[in-house]
Amino acid sequence: MKVWAISDLHLSYKENRALLLELPDFADDWLIVAGDIGEKLEYHRFAWQELSKHFAKIIWTPGNHDLWTMPHSTDGKGQHKYASLIKIAREYGVITPEDPFCKITIAEQTYCIVPLFTLYDYSFRPNDVPAAKALDWAHEARIYSNDENYLLSSPFSSVPNWARARFKIAEERLGALPPDLQLIVVTHYPLLSELCRLYRIPRYSIWCGSKITESWIKRYNISIAISGHMHMRATDYRLGVRFEEVSLGYPRDWRKGRPLKSYLRQILPADSSNITGATMWRP
Ligand SMILES: [Fe+2]
Ligand SMILES: [Fe+2]
Repeated sequence: MKVWAISDLHLSYKENRALLLELPDFADDWLIVAGDIGEKLEYHRFAWQELSKHFAKIIWTPGNHDLWTMPHSTDGKGQHKYASLIKIAREYGVITPEDPFCKITIAEQTYCIVPLFTLYDYSFRPNDVPAAKALDWAHEARIYSNDENYLLSSPFSSVPNWARARFKIAEERLGALPPDLQLIVVTHYPLLSELCRLYRIPRYSIWCGSKITESWIKRYNISIAISGHMHMRATDYRLGVRFEEVSLGYPRDWRKGRPLKSYLRQILPADSSNITGATMWRP
């Protein structure tokens, strides 16, 4: 039995939907999906319909694209859209950030898988840029995000305010867990700003996470942190934590002819061929 992870399936692209249809069966294995399935509710139904055929259990957390409200969409916005995504996931038995955490024992070690719904608060920026100037700082370099148009935060007044509410919930849940229980934390955004690899567009970092989550590495017993969003597959080690960026991404981010199975990251048992240093996983 194994635990796998992937994120950023971006099923609005027909090439990505075709890739999903070719996935083989994984019997008793579990799958973690770290956000960005797609903008429409129908993509979520499609994902869960296909993935639930092949895996014994699926654990999911949303990404920014899942929460987008496209023009003329009737899928809802903000918290309402999130609630609709939760409802659809549950119809297929998928574990969401609103459900009790689940435990798994592999090689006599028990882990708790902790999917958390987090957002960004523009704090992944240099210290000398004030919070109120964060967007200006990105725009000065002609860096924009479609989140500003489509990620609607209602009933919260802004995405950072929604983010702060979610961080509070996440920290309460993390803090209630036994301190010796090994955790596999699943978020769409990287927990550390240094893992935002944005070589061409560094100021995009403000839409990629929050400094609030950086302290979680020391405060909670996290063994493995799984995330997506960067479309830059990687394995890193920091302070004894294994960080796995598990994106598939847009069609330009993966190699044609390679099956989706080859983009699933083995989380447990740990892949013994990759136990030290950082690995960038190329297409
Ligand atoms: Fe993505
Ligand atoms: Fe994303």
